[in-house]
Amino acid sequence: MAQRDHFATRLGFVLAAAGSAVGLGNIWKFPFMTGQNGGGAFLVLYIVFVLTIGLSVMLAEFAIGRAGQRNPVGSFRALKGGAWPAAGGLGVIAGFVILSFYSVVGGWTLAYAIKSVTGALASNDPKVLGAAFGTFIADPLDVIGFHTAFMVLTLVIVAGGVRHGIERAARILMPILALLVIVLAVRAVTLDGAAKGIAFFLTPDFSKVTWNTVNAALGQAFFSLSLGMGTMITYASYLNRQVNLPKTAAQVTLLDTGFAVIAGLMILPAVFAFGFDPAAGPGLTFITLPAVFAQMPAGALFSFLFFTLLAIAALTSAVSIIEPVVSYLIDERKLSRRTATWGAGAVIWALGVPSALSLGPWKDITVGGKSILDAVDYLASNIMLPLGGILIALFVGWSVAARAVDEAQSGGNHPFALARAWIFICRFVAPVAVAWVMIQGL
Ligand code: TRP
Repeated sequence: MAQRDHFATRLGFVLAAAGSAVGLGNIWKFPFMTGQNGGGAFLVLYIVFVLTIGLSVMLAEFAIGRAGQRNPVGSFRALKGGAWPAAGGLGVIAGFVILSFYSVVGGWTLAYAIKSVTGALASNDPKVLGAAFGTFIADPLDVIGFHTAFMVLTLVIVAGGVRHGIERAARILMPILALLVIVLAVRAVTLDGAAKGIAFFLTPDFSKVTWNTVNAALGQAFFSLSLGMGTMITYASYLNRQVNLPKTAAQVTLLDTGFAVIAGLMILPAVFAFGFDPAAGPGLTFITLPAVFAQMPAGALFSFLFFTLLAIAALTSAVSIIEPVVSYLIDERKLSRRTATWGAGAVIWALGVPSALSLGPWKDITVGGKSILDAVDYLASNIMLPLGGILIALFVGWSVAARAVDEAQSGGNHPFALARAWIFICRFVAPVAVAWVMIQGL
Protein backbone atom coordinates (compact mmCIF):
# COMPACT_ATOMS: atom_id res chain seq x y z
CA MET A 1 0.00 0.00 0.00
CA ALA A 2 1.19 3.48 -0.79
CA GLN A 3 2.51 5.51 2.11
CA ARG A 4 -0.32 7.60 3.55
CA ASP A 5 -0.08 11.32 3.49
CA HIS A 6 0.63 12.49 7.05
CA PHE A 7 0.35 15.74 8.93
CA ALA A 8 3.81 17.13 9.39
CA THR A 9 3.17 18.68 12.79
CA ARG A 10 0.80 18.49 15.70
CA LEU A 11 -0.27 22.04 14.97
CA GLY A 12 -1.27 20.97 11.46
CA PHE A 13 -3.53 18.33 12.91
CA VAL A 14 -5.05 20.58 15.56
CA LEU A 15 -5.84 23.12 12.86
CA ALA A 16 -7.41 20.54 10.58
CA ALA A 17 -9.54 19.09 13.38
CA ALA A 18 -10.51 22.52 14.65
CA GLY A 19 -11.17 23.64 11.08
CA SER A 20 -13.55 20.73 10.77
CA ALA A 21 -15.31 21.40 14.06
CA VAL A 22 -15.67 25.17 13.73
CA GLY A 23 -18.14 26.01 11.02
CA LEU A 24 -21.80 26.64 10.36
CA GLY A 25 -22.60 24.45 13.35
CA ASN A 26 -21.23 27.12 15.66
CA ILE A 27 -22.42 30.29 13.99
CA TRP A 28 -25.55 29.29 12.10
CA LYS A 29 -26.94 26.26 13.89
CA PHE A 30 -26.04 26.78 17.54
CA PRO A 31 -27.71 30.21 17.96
CA PHE A 32 -30.94 29.21 16.23
CA MET A 33 -31.14 25.90 18.08
CA THR A 34 -30.60 27.73 21.36
CA GLY A 35 -33.31 30.19 20.35
CA GLN A 36 -35.74 27.41 19.49
CA ASN A 37 -35.02 25.45 22.63
CA GLY A 38 -35.55 28.04 25.30
CA GLY A 39 -32.08 29.49 25.83
CA GLY A 40 -29.92 28.91 28.91
CA ALA A 41 -31.02 25.40 29.77
CA PHE A 42 -30.13 24.28 26.26
CA LEU A 43 -26.69 25.85 26.65
CA VAL A 44 -26.09 23.99 29.92
CA LEU A 45 -27.22 20.64 28.48
CA TYR A 46 -25.09 21.22 25.42
CA ILE A 47 -21.97 21.91 27.48
CA VAL A 48 -22.59 18.87 29.68
CA PHE A 49 -22.88 16.63 26.60
CA VAL A 50 -19.79 18.17 25.02
CA LEU A 51 -17.59 17.67 28.07
CA THR A 52 -18.67 14.12 28.85
CA ILE A 53 -19.80 12.24 25.77
CA GLY A 54 -18.40 14.58 23.13
CA LEU A 55 -14.87 14.65 24.47
CA SER A 56 -14.84 10.88 24.99
CA VAL A 57 -16.16 10.06 21.54
CA MET A 58 -13.69 12.47 19.97
CA LEU A 59 -10.81 10.72 21.70
CA ALA A 60 -12.28 7.37 20.65
CA GLU A 61 -12.34 8.49 17.01
CA PHE A 62 -8.78 9.76 17.27
CA ALA A 63 -7.60 6.44 18.71
CA ILE A 64 -9.44 4.34 16.11
CA GLY A 65 -8.15 6.44 13.23
CA ARG A 66 -4.56 6.63 14.29
CA ALA A 67 -4.39 2.95 15.21
CA GLY A 68 -6.22 1.88 12.05
CA GLN A 69 -4.43 4.28 9.65
CA ARG A 70 -7.34 4.00 7.24
CA ASN A 71 -10.74 5.43 6.30
CA PRO A 72 -13.55 4.69 8.81
CA VAL A 73 -14.53 1.36 7.25
CA GLY A 74 -10.93 0.24 6.82
CA SER A 75 -9.92 1.33 10.31
CA PHE A 76 -12.65 -0.72 11.97
CA ARG A 77 -11.62 -3.68 9.82
CA ALA A 78 -7.91 -3.25 10.56
CA LEU A 79 -8.56 -3.20 14.31
CA LYS A 80 -11.19 -5.87 14.64
CA GLY A 81 -13.22 -6.80 11.59
CA GLY A 82 -16.44 -8.80 11.95
CA ALA A 83 -19.50 -6.60 11.62
CA TRP A 84 -17.66 -3.49 12.87
CA PRO A 85 -16.73 -2.06 9.46
CA ALA A 86 -20.48 -1.48 8.97
CA ALA A 87 -20.23 1.19 11.68
CA GLY A 88 -17.77 2.98 9.41
CA GLY A 89 -20.15 2.44 6.51
CA LEU A 90 -22.90 4.21 8.41
CA GLY A 91 -20.55 7.15 8.77
CA VAL A 92 -19.84 7.22 5.04
CA ILE A 93 -23.59 7.33 4.36
CA ALA A 94 -23.99 10.07 6.99
CA GLY A 95 -21.39 12.09 5.09
CA PHE A 96 -23.69 12.23 2.05
CA VAL A 97 -26.65 13.27 4.16
CA ILE A 98 -24.85 15.96 6.16
CA LEU A 99 -23.05 17.62 3.30
CA SER A 100 -26.24 17.78 1.23
CA PHE A 101 -27.84 20.39 3.47
CA TYR A 102 -24.57 21.83 4.80
CA SER A 103 -23.71 22.93 1.28
CA VAL A 104 -27.07 24.66 0.95
CA VAL A 105 -26.40 26.79 4.01
CA GLY A 106 -22.81 27.29 2.87
CA GLY A 107 -24.37 28.73 -0.28
CA TRP A 108 -26.46 31.16 1.78
CA THR A 109 -23.22 32.37 3.33
CA LEU A 110 -21.66 33.01 -0.08
CA ALA A 111 -24.79 34.85 -1.17
CA TYR A 112 -24.77 37.02 1.94
CA ALA A 113 -21.11 37.91 1.40
CA ILE A 114 -22.13 39.30 -1.97
CA LYS A 115 -25.32 40.95 -0.69
CA SER A 116 -23.24 42.73 1.96
CA VAL A 117 -21.68 44.91 -0.69
CA THR A 118 -24.70 45.41 -2.92
CA GLY A 119 -26.58 47.19 -0.14
CA ALA A 120 -29.42 44.67 -0.13
CA LEU A 121 -29.03 44.21 3.62
CA ALA A 122 -28.59 47.78 4.81
CA SER A 123 -31.40 47.94 7.34
CA ASN A 124 -32.08 47.11 10.96
CA ASP A 125 -35.78 46.73 10.47
CA PRO A 126 -36.80 43.15 11.31
CA LYS A 127 -39.46 43.23 8.61
CA VAL A 128 -37.08 44.37 5.89
CA LEU A 129 -34.38 41.86 6.82
CA GLY A 130 -36.86 39.04 7.24
CA ALA A 131 -38.25 39.86 3.83
CA ALA A 132 -34.76 40.05 2.31
CA PHE A 133 -33.97 36.56 3.58
CA GLY A 134 -37.41 35.33 2.52
CA THR A 135 -37.03 36.67 -1.00
CA PHE A 136 -33.57 35.18 -1.39
CA ILE A 137 -34.60 31.80 -0.06
CA ALA A 138 -37.67 31.73 -2.33
CA ASP A 139 -35.68 32.10 -5.53
CA PRO A 140 -34.79 28.61 -6.76
CA LEU A 141 -32.11 29.87 -9.15
CA ASP A 142 -30.38 31.77 -6.39
CA VAL A 143 -30.41 29.07 -3.73
CA ILE A 144 -29.51 26.25 -6.11
CA GLY A 145 -26.90 28.41 -7.79
CA PHE A 146 -25.12 29.21 -4.54
CA HIS A 147 -25.49 25.60 -3.33
CA THR A 148 -23.77 24.59 -6.57
CA ALA A 149 -21.03 27.17 -6.11
CA PHE A 150 -20.33 26.03 -2.56
CA MET A 151 -20.26 22.39 -3.61
CA VAL A 152 -17.88 23.08 -6.49
CA LEU A 153 -15.50 25.01 -4.22
CA THR A 154 -15.50 22.09 -1.78
CA LEU A 155 -14.84 19.54 -4.52
CA VAL A 156 -12.05 21.57 -6.10
CA ILE A 157 -10.29 21.67 -2.73
CA VAL A 158 -10.75 17.95 -2.08
CA ALA A 159 -10.00 16.72 -5.61
CA GLY A 160 -7.05 18.98 -6.18
CA GLY A 161 -5.25 17.80 -3.09
CA VAL A 162 -5.01 21.42 -1.99
CA ARG A 163 -6.54 20.53 1.33
CA HIS A 164 -3.38 21.48 3.15
CA GLY A 165 -3.38 24.76 1.29
CA ILE A 166 -6.77 25.72 2.64
CA GLU A 167 -5.78 24.57 6.10
CA ARG A 168 -2.76 26.82 5.94
CA ALA A 169 -4.98 29.70 4.83
CA ALA A 170 -7.45 28.89 7.59
CA ARG A 171 -4.63 29.17 10.09
CA ILE A 172 -4.55 32.88 9.39
CA LEU A 173 -8.22 33.41 8.63
CA MET A 174 -9.82 31.56 11.55
CA PRO A 175 -8.24 33.80 14.20
CA ILE A 176 -9.58 36.76 12.24
CA LEU A 177 -13.04 35.22 12.22
CA ALA A 178 -12.76 34.62 15.97
CA LEU A 179 -11.80 38.24 16.47
CA LEU A 180 -14.74 39.41 14.36
CA VAL A 181 -17.17 37.24 16.28
CA ILE A 182 -15.86 38.73 19.51
CA VAL A 183 -16.21 42.28 18.18
CA LEU A 184 -19.75 41.53 17.05
CA ALA A 185 -20.61 39.95 20.38
CA VAL A 186 -19.39 43.10 22.14
CA ARG A 187 -21.52 45.22 19.80
CA ALA A 188 -24.52 42.94 20.36
CA VAL A 189 -24.39 42.84 24.15
CA THR A 190 -24.11 46.64 24.31
CA LEU A 191 -27.18 47.27 22.15
CA ASP A 192 -30.18 48.88 23.80
CA GLY A 193 -32.41 46.09 25.01
CA ALA A 194 -29.72 43.40 24.83
CA ALA A 195 -30.13 42.50 28.50
CA LYS A 196 -33.17 40.34 27.84
CA GLY A 197 -31.25 38.35 25.27
CA ILE A 198 -28.26 37.90 27.54
CA ALA A 199 -30.53 36.66 30.29
CA PHE A 200 -32.31 34.34 27.86
CA PHE A 201 -28.97 32.83 26.82
CA LEU A 202 -27.19 32.64 30.16
CA THR A 203 -29.95 32.05 32.71
CA PRO A 204 -31.12 28.45 32.50
CA ASP A 205 -34.78 27.78 33.08
CA PHE A 206 -34.96 24.04 33.53
CA SER A 207 -38.72 24.06 33.90
CA LYS A 208 -38.91 24.49 30.11
CA VAL A 209 -36.73 21.46 29.35
CA THR A 210 -38.39 18.63 27.47
CA TRP A 211 -36.92 15.50 25.90
CA ASN A 212 -36.85 17.44 22.67
CA THR A 213 -34.52 19.97 24.28
CA VAL A 214 -32.23 17.23 25.58
CA ASN A 215 -32.25 15.46 22.23
CA ALA A 216 -31.52 18.71 20.40
CA ALA A 217 -28.59 19.50 22.70
CA LEU A 218 -27.12 16.04 22.20
CA GLY A 219 -27.44 16.23 18.41
CA GLN A 220 -25.87 19.67 18.44
CA ALA A 221 -22.92 18.39 20.49
CA PHE A 222 -22.21 15.66 17.91
CA PHE A 223 -22.74 17.96 14.95
CA SER A 224 -20.63 20.81 16.24
CA LEU A 225 -17.70 18.60 17.24
CA SER A 226 -17.85 16.71 13.91
CA LEU A 227 -18.43 13.40 15.69
CA GLY A 228 -20.23 10.18 14.88
CA MET A 229 -19.49 9.80 11.17
CA GLY A 230 -15.77 9.16 11.05
CA THR A 231 -14.45 12.62 10.19
CA MET A 232 -12.13 12.51 13.19
CA ILE A 233 -11.24 8.87 12.46
CA THR A 234 -10.18 9.87 8.98
CA TYR A 235 -8.21 12.93 10.10
CA ALA A 236 -6.44 10.95 12.83
CA SER A 237 -5.52 8.31 10.28
CA TYR A 238 -3.24 10.92 8.73
CA LEU A 239 -1.43 11.20 12.05
CA ASN A 240 1.80 9.73 13.32
CA ARG A 241 2.40 8.37 16.76
CA GLN A 242 3.99 11.37 18.44
CA VAL A 243 0.85 13.43 18.88
CA ASN A 244 -0.80 13.62 22.31
CA LEU A 245 -4.38 12.63 21.52
CA PRO A 246 -6.20 13.49 24.78
CA LYS A 247 -4.62 16.92 24.88
CA THR A 248 -5.55 17.54 21.26
CA ALA A 249 -9.13 16.39 21.82
CA ALA A 250 -9.44 18.75 24.79
CA GLN A 251 -8.09 21.69 22.80
CA VAL A 252 -10.33 21.13 19.81
CA THR A 253 -13.37 20.73 22.05
CA LEU A 254 -12.66 23.91 24.01
CA LEU A 255 -12.02 25.92 20.88
CA ASP A 256 -15.24 24.71 19.28
CA THR A 257 -17.34 25.32 22.36
CA GLY A 258 -15.81 28.76 22.87
CA PHE A 259 -16.72 29.69 19.33
CA ALA A 260 -20.31 28.53 19.82
CA VAL A 261 -20.81 30.39 23.09
CA ILE A 262 -19.45 33.65 21.68
CA ALA A 263 -21.61 33.19 18.58
CA GLY A 264 -24.57 32.85 20.93
CA LEU A 265 -23.60 36.14 22.54
CA MET A 266 -23.35 37.70 19.13
CA ILE A 267 -26.81 36.60 17.93
CA LEU A 268 -29.21 36.22 20.85
CA PRO A 269 -28.82 39.63 22.52
CA ALA A 270 -29.30 41.22 19.10
CA VAL A 271 -32.38 39.09 18.47
CA PHE A 272 -34.02 40.57 21.55
CA ALA A 273 -32.68 44.09 21.05
CA PHE A 274 -34.23 44.30 17.58
CA GLY A 275 -37.39 42.40 18.41
CA PHE A 276 -36.77 39.37 16.20
CA ASP A 277 -38.23 35.99 17.08
CA PRO A 278 -35.63 33.76 18.83
CA ALA A 279 -37.48 30.68 17.58
CA ALA A 280 -37.33 31.81 13.94
CA GLY A 281 -35.30 28.76 12.95
CA PRO A 282 -32.59 28.36 10.30
CA GLY A 283 -32.85 31.94 9.07
CA LEU A 284 -32.05 33.46 12.47
CA THR A 285 -28.35 34.28 12.00
CA PHE A 286 -28.95 35.60 8.49
CA ILE A 287 -31.78 37.86 9.59
CA THR A 288 -30.17 39.11 12.79
CA LEU A 289 -26.57 39.84 11.83
CA PRO A 290 -27.32 42.43 9.13
CA ALA A 291 -29.18 44.44 11.77
CA VAL A 292 -26.07 44.40 13.94
CA PHE A 293 -23.90 45.45 11.01
CA ALA A 294 -26.30 48.31 10.31
CA GLN A 295 -25.49 49.63 13.80
CA MET A 296 -21.74 49.70 13.14
CA PRO A 297 -19.44 52.09 11.34
CA ALA A 298 -18.30 50.53 8.05
CA GLY A 299 -21.02 47.92 8.53
CA ALA A 300 -21.01 46.80 4.90
CA LEU A 301 -17.31 46.08 5.05
CA PHE A 302 -17.64 44.16 8.33
CA SER A 303 -20.54 42.25 6.86
CA PHE A 304 -18.62 41.29 3.73
CA LEU A 305 -15.60 40.24 5.76
CA PHE A 306 -17.70 38.25 8.19
CA PHE A 307 -19.70 36.27 5.65
CA THR A 308 -16.60 35.62 3.55
CA LEU A 309 -14.68 34.26 6.54
CA LEU A 310 -17.71 32.24 7.59
CA ALA A 311 -17.87 30.73 4.10
CA ILE A 312 -14.22 29.73 4.44
CA ALA A 313 -14.85 28.22 7.88
CA ALA A 314 -17.76 26.33 6.32
CA LEU A 315 -15.51 25.12 3.50
CA THR A 316 -12.94 23.61 5.86
CA SER A 317 -15.83 21.81 7.56
CA ALA A 318 -17.38 20.69 4.29
CA VAL A 319 -14.04 19.27 3.21
CA SER A 320 -13.96 17.23 6.41
CA ILE A 321 -17.47 15.90 5.81
CA ILE A 322 -16.67 14.55 2.36
CA GLU A 323 -13.11 13.41 3.12
CA PRO A 324 -14.18 10.18 4.88
CA VAL A 325 -16.38 9.37 1.88
CA VAL A 326 -13.58 10.04 -0.59
CA SER A 327 -11.03 8.23 1.53
CA TYR A 328 -13.35 5.21 1.62
CA LEU A 329 -13.90 5.24 -2.14
CA ILE A 330 -10.16 5.48 -2.77
CA ASP A 331 -8.99 2.87 -0.24
CA GLU A 332 -11.80 0.35 -0.50
CA ARG A 333 -13.26 0.86 -3.97
CA LYS A 334 -9.99 1.68 -5.70
CA LEU A 335 -11.26 4.86 -7.35
CA SER A 336 -8.94 7.72 -8.17
CA ARG A 337 -9.23 10.76 -5.90
CA ARG A 338 -10.65 12.75 -8.78
CA THR A 339 -13.38 10.24 -9.67
CA ALA A 340 -14.26 9.63 -6.03
CA THR A 341 -14.57 13.32 -5.27
CA TRP A 342 -16.59 14.42 -8.27
CA GLY A 343 -18.76 11.28 -8.25
CA ALA A 344 -19.68 11.55 -4.58
CA GLY A 345 -20.02 15.32 -4.97
CA ALA A 346 -22.55 14.98 -7.78
CA VAL A 347 -24.72 12.67 -5.68
CA ILE A 348 -24.48 14.97 -2.66
CA TRP A 349 -25.32 17.99 -4.78
CA ALA A 350 -28.48 16.29 -6.07
CA LEU A 351 -29.47 15.24 -2.56
CA GLY A 352 -29.12 18.87 -1.50
CA VAL A 353 -31.56 20.27 -4.07
CA PRO A 354 -34.71 19.45 -2.07
CA SER A 355 -33.17 21.12 1.00
CA ALA A 356 -32.27 24.14 -1.11
CA LEU A 357 -35.89 24.49 -2.22
CA SER A 358 -37.40 23.62 1.12
CA LEU A 359 -37.64 27.08 2.66
CA GLY A 360 -38.93 28.68 -0.51
CA PRO A 361 -40.77 27.02 -3.39
CA TRP A 362 -41.21 23.78 -1.42
CA LYS A 363 -41.96 25.30 1.95
CA ASP A 364 -45.32 23.57 2.15
CA ILE A 365 -43.76 20.13 2.03
CA THR A 366 -43.06 18.96 5.56
CA VAL A 367 -41.64 15.76 7.00
CA GLY A 368 -42.74 15.08 10.56
CA GLY A 369 -43.71 18.75 10.92
CA LYS A 370 -40.29 19.96 9.73
CA SER A 371 -39.11 21.53 6.51
CA ILE A 372 -37.07 19.19 4.31
CA LEU A 373 -33.85 20.93 5.35
CA ASP A 374 -34.69 20.60 9.04
CA ALA A 375 -35.75 16.99 8.55
CA VAL A 376 -32.52 16.04 6.78
CA ASP A 377 -30.53 17.83 9.48
CA TYR A 378 -32.53 15.94 12.14
CA LEU A 379 -31.94 12.60 10.43
CA ALA A 380 -28.20 13.28 10.40
CA SER A 381 -27.68 15.06 13.73
CA ASN A 382 -30.20 13.30 15.92
CA ILE A 383 -30.23 9.79 14.48
CA MET A 384 -27.18 8.95 12.36
CA LEU A 385 -24.50 10.78 14.37
CA PRO A 386 -25.66 9.62 17.82
CA LEU A 387 -25.99 6.07 16.49
CA GLY A 388 -22.48 6.32 15.07
CA GLY A 389 -21.32 7.70 18.41
CA ILE A 390 -22.81 4.74 20.29
CA LEU A 391 -21.04 2.27 17.99
CA ILE A 392 -17.71 4.10 18.23
CA ALA A 393 -17.96 4.20 22.03
CA LEU A 394 -18.92 0.52 22.27
CA PHE A 395 -16.11 -0.45 19.94
CA VAL A 396 -13.46 1.33 21.98
CA GLY A 397 -15.01 0.42 25.33
CA TRP A 398 -15.55 -3.27 24.73
CA SER A 399 -13.85 -4.52 21.58
CA VAL A 400 -10.44 -2.89 21.50
CA ALA A 401 -10.12 -1.25 24.93
CA ALA A 402 -6.51 -2.23 25.62
CA ARG A 403 -5.37 -1.24 22.17
CA ALA A 404 -7.30 2.03 22.37
CA VAL A 405 -5.79 2.96 25.73
CA ASP A 406 -2.34 2.21 24.36
CA GLU A 407 -3.12 4.41 21.36
CA ALA A 408 -4.47 7.23 23.54
CA GLN A 409 -1.17 7.12 25.46
CA SER A 410 0.81 7.02 22.20
CA GLY A 411 2.40 3.76 23.25
CA GLY A 412 3.58 5.20 26.57
CA ASN A 413 4.82 8.51 25.16
CA HIS A 414 2.01 10.48 26.77
CA PRO A 415 0.66 8.91 29.97
CA PHE A 416 -3.11 9.53 30.18
CA ALA A 417 -4.30 9.73 33.78
CA LEU A 418 -7.99 9.56 32.88
CA ALA A 419 -7.74 6.42 30.74
CA ARG A 420 -9.94 4.37 33.05
CA ALA A 421 -12.61 7.04 33.27
CA TRP A 422 -12.54 7.35 29.50
CA ILE A 423 -13.04 3.62 28.98
CA PHE A 424 -15.81 3.63 31.59
CA ILE A 425 -17.61 6.40 29.70
CA CYS A 426 -17.15 4.54 26.41
CA ARG A 427 -18.41 1.28 27.92
CA PHE A 428 -21.43 2.47 29.84
CA VAL A 429 -22.12 6.17 30.12
CA ALA A 430 -22.02 7.23 26.49
CA PRO A 431 -23.92 4.28 24.95
CA VAL A 432 -26.61 4.22 27.65
CA ALA A 433 -27.09 7.99 27.81
CA VAL A 434 -27.15 8.47 24.06
CA ALA A 435 -29.49 5.52 23.48
CA TRP A 436 -31.74 6.76 26.27
CA VAL A 437 -31.97 10.26 24.83
CA MET A 438 -32.54 8.93 21.32
CA ILE A 439 -35.36 6.66 22.43
CA GLN A 440 -37.05 9.43 24.42
CA GLY A 441 -36.68 11.74 21.45
CA LEU A 442 -38.57 9.43 19.08
N1 TRP B 1 -18.72 20.50 12.89
C1 TRP B 1 -18.96 21.24 11.69
C2 TRP B 1 -19.70 22.51 12.04
O1 TRP B 1 -19.93 22.75 13.18
C3 TRP B 1 -19.70 20.40 10.67
C4 TRP B 1 -19.06 19.08 10.42
C5 TRP B 1 -17.85 18.85 9.85
C6 TRP B 1 -19.57 17.82 10.79
N2 TRP B 1 -17.60 17.50 9.85
C7 TRP B 1 -18.63 16.85 10.41
C8 TRP B 1 -20.73 17.44 11.42
C9 TRP B 1 -18.84 15.51 10.68
C10 TRP B 1 -20.95 16.10 11.67
C11 TRP B 1 -20.01 15.15 11.32
O2 TRP B 1 -20.05 23.27 11.20
